[in-house]
Order: sequence, then structure tokens, then C-alpha cells
Amino acid sequence: MSAETPSHNPDTAGRQCVKYTFYKLDAAFLRLPEEKQRDAKLDFIDTVRHFNRRMLLRSYSLVGMRRDVDFLLWTVAAEMEPFQQLETAIRNTALGPFLSVARSFLSTTKRSIYDISLPEDAQAPNADERIRIEPSGSRYLFVYPFIKTRAWYALSHEERQEMITEHIRVGRKYPDIRLNTTYSYGIDDQEFVVAFEGDNPHDFVDLVADLRFTKASMYTQADTPMHICIAMPLPEVMDSIGGAHVSDLVDPDVPEVGGWLAVATMDELAPESSLRVYYGAQQVALFRVNGSIYALSNRCPHARGPLCEGTLVTNGDGPAVRCPWHEAFFSLETGRVLSGPAPRAVETFRVRVEGGTIYIAQSGEGGE
Ligand code: FES
Repeated sequence: MSAETPSHNPDTAGRQCVKYTFYKLDAAFLRLPEEKQRDAKLDFIDTVRHFNRRMLLRSYSLVGMRRDVDFLLWTVAAEMEPFQQLETAIRNTALGPFLSVARSFLSTTKRSIYDISLPEDAQAPNADERIRIEPSGSRYLFVYPFIKTRAWYALSHEERQEMITEHIRVGRKYPDIRLNTTYSYGIDDQEFVVAFEGDNPHDFVDLVADLRFTKASMYTQADTPMHICIAMPLPEVMDSIGGAHVSDLVDPDVPEVGGWLAVATMDELAPESSLRVYYGAQQVALFRVNGSIYALSNRCPHARGPLCEGTLVTNGDGPAVRCPWHEAFFSLETGRVLSGPAPRAVETFRVRVEGGTIYIAQSGEGGE
């Protein structure tokens, strides 16, 4: 939990692992007695929700959209291992024997090697924004794997930059479509996974049609299969696959904006230790110190060091954490900078413990 020497690689700091897993339901499930269908779906929901605490997890239905896949789990985590653990847990649910992974794309976030601002832009995009996936609340996700021709890589950087700039300029005509590009070099069969978020399928069709007329399009080797995925909470996804209805039996997945979210159990957070959890898209560091629980944004405001890997100290300022990268100290109670290079306080979350479960909510002043 402590790290005395800053030892991170700035090129990889803050990057995330991303997995798109598409499932297909065996129709035999729909011939089970209704009670068994209901129990299997509830088991699946309960199991997957447990991972909400360890990764960003979004669910989508594709029933009626494509015949070869039924639903998608879009997951984002700091490491690869939680993806494997989630898949093992899903296989062990009562629904697991009726599910097959019809398709999956593994990738990571990465800073683009191109300048993705336009000359007319007043402000360049924040580089950090490009290494973090923060899904919007869009109704649809459009996902496809993408491979460039090898001829693309033989072009000069200037030639490629010119085509990328043209590509970006076309994209700007559709401000309601938001692009998440992630990279799969060496870890999966495609080179990129492209995931657009948007509320209007017509906009997306028009955008893709426009992009066909750009020069860069000549260097596309593969960009199928394409998927249109409809965002919905996991219980509704389970309803969409057919069989017993369960969405009226369980809570929706996501708390209302700023609302309370169960993120861990007391058993998972040992005394005088820390744990990284997720509050929606945001990484949060939980600390248990002298019997109290504190929750702070996991990202140090200085250079995004992971506070959950910091050192806990208690002195006249009360309980504090020292950032593992450049030794900024933050109060666990208020998030205030006690010393070091951080330019501002770190966000705190409210904390509540009920029946051995730890809940957090936004807009907190400190732990309770
Ligand atoms: S990242 Fe530099 S002090 Fe935290």
C-alpha cells in the first residue's frame, strides 16, 4: 500500500483497460420453467453488480438489432485481471450455462500520436481526457473493430496527420456523436475498437457515410462487424432477452446523480488499508483508518497519481494520505492539500456504512 519512490511511467499513467463482451443466449433457456429463468437472471444480476465496485460497467441490449448477439457488457478497469474474474463469475451463475461469448474486443486507452485539435480550435483537448473512458448517458453505443492497411503505416507522419485532420473536421459536423477510440495492438485481433455514443442513429449513419468520402477511408482494411447497442440497466437487459421479467424485482443499476452507491463490504476493506472502487465512471479510493471510513477521488490533482496506493499517516492534521508519486499530502477528512505539489484539494465523497456494506455519495465534505 506504500510506495516510497515515484516509479511510474508517465506514458502509461492513468491509462485504462477496456473490454467489450457480446453475449448470445441459448434459446433452451426460454423453455425452462419461469421460476428457474427468474432465479438465473437474478443470480446473474447480483453477480455482475458485485463487479460494479471494481470496474466501470455499462450494459446494452442488442436483441432485435443483430441476430448473432443479444447483449453487451462494456467494462473499463485499471488492470486486465478483473475482466477474467468477471467472466469466471458469470460462467458460474445459473445463467452461465445458457450464455456464450459471441464476440469480444479487448483494448486499452492511449494518447493519440496525432494532433487531434483543429487550427480553428481555441483550446486543444486535454490529453488526460483521451486516456480516460467516461461514458455519457447516451441512448446508443455504436461499436466496431477497426484495422488500418499496412500502407497507412508506410505514409509519412505529415501525410497521416493531414488525413486525420480531415477526419476530425468531418466528425465536428456531428457534435452530438462522441467517439471513444481504444487500442488493441498485440492484445487482440483488431488494431482499434471504435465506440461512438449518441442519441440519434440517423446522425451516426450520416457521419459514417461522410467519412467514406475522406482520404483516410482508403486505408481502412476492416471495420466490421458493426453493432448498434441500446443502453439500459442490467435488469432491463435481462428482460429484453425474453423469459421471466425481473426488472420490477430489483433496483436499477445506477444511483441518481450524486446518490448513494454500495461500493464494498467492510470485509473487503481491512483496518488501516485502502481499496480502489468505482462510482460510475470515477475511480474512488476508500480508506479505513482508526475505525473510520473515508472516500476520496483516486486521482491526485497534481499528475493523477493513484491515492489508493499512497501511504497513510496520522499527525496533528488528522488522518492523511501521501500520494505515491510526488508526495503531496491530503487530509482524508476534507481532501485539503496539507503539503506538496498538488494545486488543489482532492474531491471527497460522503460515506455511510449499513449492515456491513459501505455506501458512498457525491458532494461530500469528508467521511462520516
Ligand atoms: S501525482 Fe504528483 S503528488 Fe500526486
